[in-house]
Amino acid sequence: MTAIVVYMVTAGVLSCSHEDGNHADQAGMMAAKRKPAEVMQKWCADCHVPPLSSNHTPAEWPSIVVRMQHHRVENGMAKIPDTEMERIISYLQSSPL
Ligand code: HEC
Repeated sequence: MTAIVVYMVTAGVLSCSHEDGNHADQAGMMAAKRKPAEVMQKWCADCHVPPLSSNHTPAEWPSIVVRMQHHRVENGMAKIPDTEMERIISYLQSSPL
């Protein structure tokens, strides 16, 4: 059990989408069913309250979310899958507020 958890965490942090393709696909399929706000809650609420889309301009969001990905990796947390990164960025850029 411990070995499985360690493997999953390591794969999430170290690999660049190939080795954890199945994992990413699963996450992508699950993400498709989740609302964007729930995706943000999952990936952005560990360190601080998830931001409001109105905090930044659409042009600023991609680099901020990429920087947050680095914060996750630096802290040994699982990487945000590409599909969910895109969903978070487009949600923030759409400024629903
Ligand atoms: C591993 C911890 C961690 C996670 C997870 C995290 N953040 Fe952050 N966030 C930080 C830290 C540390 C700062 C302050 C330093 C900085 O701005 O890089 C910050 C600052 C911010 C800021 C203010 C920066 C600015 O320039 O105004 C925003 C907006 C933000 N985070 C959005 C997000 C979003 C969106 C997510 C999810 C994709 C997220 N964060 C996930 C750690 C995290």
